[in-house]
Amino acid sequence: MNTQHTQPNLGKLRSWAAKGLVALRGTYLLPHGHLIPFLEPYWKEKEIETGLNWMSGNEPKQLDQKWIEARFLDATRQHGIAVATSSGRTALSLALCALKRMRPDRNEVIIPSYSCLALLDAVVCSGLSPVYADVGYDLNVTEQTVSPLLTKKTLAVVIVHLGGEYANDTKVIRRKAEQYGAVAIEDLCQALGGKEGEKHWEAEAPMAIYSFGLGKNLMATAGGMLVARTALDSILIEKSKLNSENPTRAPSRFSYILKAHYRKGASLLFPRPSMPVLPFKSSYEYNRMDLLDVQLLDRQLDRMDEILQLRRRNANTMLATLQNSPKLRIAGKDDQNVWTKFIVLADNTHNAQRMRSMLTKSGIETETMYTPLHLRKEGARYSRWVLPVTEEIYPRVFNLPVRPSLSPKEILYIANTTKRLLARIEKTDAR
Ligand SMILES: Cc1ncc(COP(=O)(O)O)c(C=O)c1O
Repeated sequence: MNTQHTQPNLGKLRSWAAKGLVALRGTYLLPHGHLIPFLEPYWKEKEIETGLNWMSGNEPKQLDQKWIEARFLDATRQHGIAVATSSGRTALSLALCALKRMRPDRNEVIIPSYSCLALLDAVVCSGLSPVYADVGYDLNVTEQTVSPLLTKKTLAVVIVHLGGEYANDTKVIRRKAEQYGAVAIEDLCQALGGKEGEKHWEAEAPMAIYSFGLGKNLMATAGGMLVARTALDSILIEKSKLNSENPTRAPSRFSYILKAHYRKGASLLFPRPSMPVLPFKSSYEYNRMDLLDVQLLDRQLDRMDEILQLRRRNANTMLATLQNSPKLRIAGKDDQNVWTKFIVLADNTHNAQRMRSMLTKSGIETETMYTPLHLRKEGARYSRWVLPVTEEIYPRVFNLPVRPSLSPKEILYIANTTKRLLARIEKTDAR
């Protein structure tokens, strides 16, 4: 008997099921579930193949840290020395420990309170004290907020280019820090790729730090880099103290990222696996960049221009659609920006919450920004004064997705849905 016509063709069934899922996603799930995730690495076949090959011991390239350091300096057109670390905070710790070795009489590091816990951790781990600076309404530190904090005890000032937006007063702050014998460390963890003409923003900074963790412009499973043009001997001493991560950690992170972000077919209908804590925490220790992360960063550096262009394209769509809403201000819309994050401020806390909940119901995931460090339990003990702008803005801030892996259809959906929801809020507020 010929079974060809009577038995179902498995390949065809699979393809119908896949088409059904895509249709379901577009017509029902997209507006009803968490189907536009905020975060997703921009990895393609090369990165995935590299990771899988690495884990099975078949990766042919096998680049080392020294190689990636040279490549990174070249890609960002900088001179000086680069040190590949296991995370951005490790890069900052390394810089601070090196500076402290040279200036043991100084123990204060100025950091913005409106920033991530990594900065506080790095300062405290290095045996130093944070001094919190306020930010301006663009969410970056300014000359006005930093200058009064500079003293003969200041070892370093960390200037963060938050969300990819250039901190406009960087050059003045650098100069003032120098006058006080302190060193400016520029934090480009969220701002890799920013340029003025052909020159990268940080090209003249005494020190710069970077992160290649989740949500950054270039993503490995974790990783960081310090580029320094000062305290070089001291940095080389600290570099020699870095350890190696347990070699199972980066592969665990890689496996998690694949399972969480590269789901296919029916698995899309189930919740994401939860993040394994230990493998991610291990990147915060005083370690060199893991070799798997070296390979992944190498592949991501090939895509740097593409990633920056796609973020800009997505941000432009959002800007064109949301430009003039009285209910939502876009931080950094008037400044140089690489749009690692599309940071917005609602007109008040209630509307920020309303907006986020309405966006979630429409299938758009948003990101919470920071609780100021001086108001967190980990950082409150170092708090010395009120930081008026930070305290006023923080409950109103959140981030909309502009990641490079969004399709043009998805970014339009995000922009138009946000606009529609804002109009609804405007209407109810006007009553
Ligand atoms: C502005 C900023 N600085 C430093 C860091 C620390 O980077 P990592 O998570 O790689 O330690 C981050 C990470 O989120 C960051 O956003």
